[in-house]
Formats: sequence, structure tokens, C-alpha cells
Amino acid sequence: MAADTLRSLAQSAGIRFGAAVDVEVLNTDAAYARLLAREFNLVTPENAMKFSIVQPERGRFDFTQADALIEFAKAHAMQVNGHVLVWHQQLPDWLTQGNFSRDELKAILREHIQTLVTRYRGRVASWDVAAEAVDEDGRMRETFWSRGIGPDYLALAFDWAHAADPQARLRYNDYGGEGAGPKSDGIYDLVAALRMKGRPIHGVGLQMHVSLKDAPHARDVRINMKRLAAIGLETHITEMDAMLAMPATRTDLKAQAALYRDMLQACLAVPQCRSFSTWGVTDRHSWIPEFFPGQGAALLFGSDNRAKPAYLGVRRVLRNAASGKR
Ligand code: XIL
Repeated sequence: MAADTLRSLAQSAGIRFGAAVDVEVLNTDAAYARLLAREFNLVTPENAMKFSIVQPERGRFDFTQADALIEFAKAHAMQVNGHVLVWHQQLPDWLTQGNFSRDELKAILREHIQTLVTRYRGRVASWDVAAEAVDEDGRMRETFWSRGIGPDYLALAFDWAHAADPQARLRYNDYGGEGAGPKSDGIYDLVAALRMKGRPIHGVGLQMHVSLKDAPHARDVRINMKRLAAIGLETHITEMDAMLAMPATRTDLKAQAALYRDMLQACLAVPQCRSFSTWGVTDRHSWIPEFFPGQGAALLFGSDNRAKPAYLGVRRVLRNAASGKR
């Protein structure tokens, strides 16, 4: 029985299978916790390590939720991906409204990164160090951090994270740059420049928030992963969900299953693609309905915790990969 779960099949296939976790739900919903422990061997805190949660007031750190997830992961032999050290969203007001100078912002970011990465040294295997720093045209996005510190905030963030935990695998994570196009090229150029300057970056997270109408071609994802591998970078599908118009039809649920299968196959075709994660566990707790009104049903398990066609499709792909070579 246990041999037929996503986590054990993924392990045989040579990747990890992960999910973003809502720690409040984890703490209160035993069925959710059981499902998570049974099917996944990699977790990412959906919100619990974000700046506004971890440091709600200047210098006051709150690790209650993050610690709970770390404990759960340990108890269930799961790896943890830390998310996210430098990002322009979910920042506390004291920070964004603080009128800080460049030097002050550097000191704040440095302390934030040092505190988190040091606390979880040896317990968080990888970090999303930086996220969403590239805009849709492939240029550097103008954000709170780029304005406040300047373009070198990214290189600094990787250096500080590496100094705090030299063993941790450090990543850049973004959306909309999974396949072909200007944003993928911009991300490639950014991470290639960081590598060239000798910065400690080890991987790229491709988020993969998609819909049936708007998903990259699996072939382009594979090609993109290969060019990243060619400059020495691992890749990860970090946040896949595939939103459907609600209420979801059987036809759409089948098309969704095909999309999940295709993206997983793209990952399995590239040896440097090391993990595949979904952004949530069940449709009940997905971020999609709130952020994309009228859309939902984006994950592998339904609101009733039951496996959807997408789950069965993913499991089949993993089974084949587990029994064959990769
Ligand atoms: C989302 C969470 O799922 C929501 O609960 C929160 O309100 C907003 O952020 N890309 C990311 C994630 O990297 O951190 C975002 O998570 C979804 C998009």
C-alpha cells in the first residue's frame, strides 16, 4: 500500500514530491495532516516563513508556525524547502512604510536572512532565496528591494544565505518563466549572471501556476530545464496548480490530469530536475479561489480529500518512471 504513494514512487523515480503547507490547517485538521504525510516527502511553508509572518514588528521574530512545520517534517521524514527570503510581497508595514536608507535596508535584509537561515541550519535543505525579480518582458522588475538597495540586492541575498548555511541548496524562484519566451530568457540571463559572478546559487524553481488555456508546452519546459542544467543549475517545479473554471467539468478535470502528467514528464526527462511540488494539498485550502475569482479545483485532491484524475495521472507517470530508468 505505502509503496503506491506519490512519495515512495517519486523516491524510486529519483525525485521528491512536495506540497505547500498551510500550517494553521496542518495544526487543526488531522485528515489533512495524514494525507500530507502519506503522499509527500517535501514541504514548503505556504506563508509561515514570509517576512510579514516571521518578523511582524521590527526585531520581533515569530517562528511558531515555521517551527511546527519543521517538527512535522522531521516526524514524517520529509525535506523542507524554505520560502521565501527576499520577495516584494507580504512585507510588513513597518518595513515598507519605514523610509529606511539603503544601508538600513541592507542591514534589515541581512539580519532577516541570517536569522532564518541560521535558525534552520541542517533542517531546511533548500531555500527560495529570491523570487519574482524578473518582469514579464524579461527585465529586472522594479520592486521595494531593487529601489531600496539597488540591483545587487539579489547577489547579496545569496551571499548572506550561503554564509549562514553553507550546506543549504539555494534557489531563485519565479512564475511564468517555465517554457519559452522573454520572461524565461530574462530569468536565464539573471541566474547565468549570478553564476558567472560566482554567486552561491544552485537551482531554479519554476512555479508552474497554470490554467488549461495558459500553460507552457512540455517540450519548452524540458528545453528550458536543459539550458539551466547546462550552466550547472538544478531545476524544480515548485508550485504547480492548474486552475479550472468553477464548477469544474469532467472534461476539464481530465484535461487537467493531462497537464499535470505532461509537466511531471518534462521534469522526469531532465536528470537535473529534482523535485515536483504542488501549491497546496487539497482544493479546499488552495489560494486559487481567493486570488482568481470563479476559478478553483487546481490541485491533486478534492475538497473532500479524495484523489482526483490528476492524482491518478501523476501516480501513473511516477509508477512508470519508478519501474523504468530515468
Ligand atoms: C500565496 C499564498 O498561497 C497565499 O495564501 C497568500 O495569501 C499569498 O501568497 N507565488 C508564490 C507564493 O511564490 O508565495 C504565493 O503564495 C503564490 C504565488
